[in-house]
Amino acid sequence: MYSIETRSLTKSFGNVIAVNDVSFTVKEGEIFGFLGPNGAGKSTTMMILTTLLKPTSGQALISGFDVMTNAKQVRENIGYVQQESTVDEYLTGRENLLLQAKLNHIPKKEINKRIDDVLELIELADKQDQAVVTYSGGMRKRLDIAGGLLHRPKVLFLDEPTVGLDIQTRRKIWEYIKKIHSEFDMTIFLSTHYMEEADNLCDRVGIIDGGKIRIIDSPANMKNAMGNEVISIVLDEGERISFLSEIKKIESVKKINKDGSKLILFASNGTEVIPKIFQISSKLDVKITSISLTQPTLDDVFISYTGHEIRDDDSGFNRKREHAKMKRLRA
Ligand SMILES: Nc1ncnc2c1ncn2[C@@H]1O[C@H](COP(=O)(O)OP(=O)(O)OP(=O)(O)O)[C@@H](O)[C@H]1O
Ligand SMILES: [Mg+2]
Repeated sequence: MYSIETRSLTKSFGNVIAVNDVSFTVKEGEIFGFLGPNGAGKSTTMMILTTLLKPTSGQALISGFDVMTNAKQVRENIGYVQQESTVDEYLTGRENLLLQAKLNHIPKKEINKRIDDVLELIELADKQDQAVVTYSGGMRKRLDIAGGLLHRPKVLFLDEPTVGLDIQTRRKIWEYIKKIHSEFDMTIFLSTHYMEEADNLCDRVGIIDGGKIRIIDSPANMKNAMGNEVISIVLDEGERISFLSEIKKIESVKKINKDGSKLILFASNGTEVIPKIFQISSKLDVKITSISLTQPTLDDVFISYTGHEIRDDDSGFNRKREHAKMKRLRA
């Protein structure tokens, strides 16, 4: 039995198809990630899987329970850490967890022990009696995650667990996620728009864009399928079209992307390709400004499957904020 299974899951809001015919499975114990830009449909999918939204069509099962017809059993089996923090800033960390424990109907006798355990796991025990308003962004996120663990769910959903955090804090949160995963032996479904995060944490990744899944595979397989190495070439001058057509003829070049004046080649044997590139450039009198050889990243994979770069800039973040605000207004 799969931990998570969706069959042609679809969700429309008016004319917007937020989730479009999405089918995938997640095995027990896996860390599975949705990687996609703002508006890709990550949160909508997660809200359906956690019974907070009804799909327009299709089916979703958690540990074999249907999210529509067995919502109660689904909720007992899952923890859900939302994209926006849900903790009360004016309560202390411990008080927030107490509230969460009561909402989750954890037996009274066990509450204190469970809270102690999660506080220790997430290393917040020494800050538990401070009001959350004094916490840093990373500490708040850790508290959010702790709240999702109290009832020891089999499947944990983390919606963009590190969005807006600086890179050091993000790395720390990754360590906590790995620790939780090994300690509780749970399935984790997370969403992210950070390549590095998907690469670092996930056994398998689904690239989602415009409500559709473009590919699902392990990060390593995705990168291998691109070719083993990436050669970036910046041309200064000369006849690019004939240069390109000559390069296409090199056998170990699997794929070529153009990014402005830069050519990105995916090749199975980069060190053999580079001298050939120089031969072609001197033959055609094309001047190369720079050339580099690297391993492919998930970034390259993303561009190749979606035709655009994932955006991770301020405008994206502000859009997200606006979007969250709109959702609250609509609600
Ligand atoms: N309640 C809603 N009403 C109308 N449209 C919605 C609603 N919720 C989401 N959408 C739309 O559905 C699409 C998918 O949104 P969703 O929030 O699932 O994306 P996301 O991948 O989580 O993005 P982000 O990275 O910004 O969190 C977007 O076009 C969004 O505007
Ligand atoms: Mg989202």
